[in-house]
Amino acid sequence: MHDDWWRGAAIYELYVQSFADAGNDGMGDLAGARARLPYLADLGVDAIWFTPWYPSPLADAGYDVADYRDIAPRFGTLAEADALISEAHGHGIKIIIDLVPNHCSDRHAWFQAALKAQPGTPERARFWFRDRPNNWQSRFGGLAWTQVGDGDWYLHIFAPEQPDFNWSNAEVRAEFEDILRFWFDRGVDGIRIDTAGMLTKEPGLPDLDDEHPHPFVDRDDVHDIYRRWRQIADEYGARVLIGEIWLADTARLARYTRPDELHTVFNFPYLSCPWDAARLRAVIDDTLALPAAPTWVLANHDVDREVSRYGRADTSFDLDARDHSQEVDLELGTRRARAAALLTMALPGAVYIYQGEELGLWEVEDIPEDRRQDPIFHRTGGADPGRDGCRVPLPWSGTEPPFGFSAGHEPWLPQPKQWRELTVQAQSGDPASMLTLYRTALRVRRQQLSVAGVLTWLDAPAGVLAFDRADGLRCVANLSDTPVELPAAAEIVLASGPLASDARLPPDSTVWLRLSPQTLA
Ligand code: NOJ
Repeated sequence: MHDDWWRGAAIYELYVQSFADAGNDGMGDLAGARARLPYLADLGVDAIWFTPWYPSPLADAGYDVADYRDIAPRFGTLAEADALISEAHGHGIKIIIDLVPNHCSDRHAWFQAALKAQPGTPERARFWFRDRPNNWQSRFGGLAWTQVGDGDWYLHIFAPEQPDFNWSNAEVRAEFEDILRFWFDRGVDGIRIDTAGMLTKEPGLPDLDDEHPHPFVDRDDVHDIYRRWRQIADEYGARVLIGEIWLADTARLARYTRPDELHTVFNFPYLSCPWDAARLRAVIDDTLALPAAPTWVLANHDVDREVSRYGRADTSFDLDARDHSQEVDLELGTRRARAAALLTMALPGAVYIYQGEELGLWEVEDIPEDRRQDPIFHRTGGADPGRDGCRVPLPWSGTEPPFGFSAGHEPWLPQPKQWRELTVQAQSGDPASMLTLYRTALRVRRQQLSVAGVLTWLDAPAGVLAFDRADGLRCVANLSDTPVELPAAAEIVLASGPLASDARLPPDSTVWLRLSPQTLA
């Protein structure tokens, strides 16, 4: 086994409650995931990242953890997690789990003890209790402080049910080091670190203003934590630490992947980029210029699905300004999502696939208000539509909801009827389906593309991205509105859609080519 398996890996984000529901209670579970491991092996992924699977009251879909060393009863048991890890390994698939160190659930034993304790006690010192709030706002809307019975206030950068840990407290640091070992000892191959850039806070918790450095985003002292975590990961070997850090500044982002810190971070500048050749090329160049191992991400459980993003007039994504008021052209969005998938999988580095991307699912924008779960929707009074639309359970088979997701129980979020055309069953064996495109692309990528795959840009018309990889693959993505010529002597390895009758590459399409030796010479 290579210690740096993660460098070129295809990593599948498995959003547990929406993947597969073997228990038939409307929520996905570990038994469902275990039953579908052959599907993921067949899809061709190298690793699965499980979103939080811990006991949780689900105030934020599991990112409110009540116990970091157990599995939510609704998902299964620790013994099932162990079985899942070893079965996945049997398929040659690595397991990455999600760790949430910035905050826990208000039901976590430490927070419960803090509530029972007096102001100023060691129990309260593991969190941020103060006798008055500052001006910090919650990422989910409203003040980032909630008052308790004795008059003290506690800090929660997210929902009130997610109290922030105090990372200047030695007990908190020791606890998380122990939790890392707990899961590494169970055989997990990697850790996705939630909200990784916000753990440390400016001493004294000053008000946020425009003049001073941000009091909790991307502070220099957060790096000390990851230096320590890296030592622990290195003791185990072949483990990967992946940071979830939303920073537009790629140079600041790169600091997290210095040789003694995290192995990789998610490439959110790439995800946020509009469907625009020049802008995408700039992000790709910025990414490749950094010493860090590149990753490529188009979607996750916090963002609008790309089929919908790319079908709007504004194709960019802004985490703080989701806009569902725009018209969506699903046909256009799907065509572009196919082209984006091939562009992304041709780039050198690791690629993330959020469950349902391989099925071409779109953002479900019409979930009735009374079925919505996301605290972002509720805490902003609906001003921000939130993230439920990208979390709708997967359609597996059949012609009506729940589409084989459960054995008949109503899924926790409603599925659109039109997804009958997008089930795994409907798409399997269809050469034109999104699923076939993903399966084929992942297979070619694994078999024919080298991990290092140095990229050389080629001259191309405006709106076209064309590059050669050192392993001989040429990728041409046409983001312009006119068809482009392809080299005559090229073998087409894979195309995101049909070529024009004159063999030109139509708009919003990507093709992978191999050139004949004569053309190369
Ligand atoms: C990032 C996670 O991806 C998101 O789903 C969650 O709400 C926040 N961090 C808070 O944990």
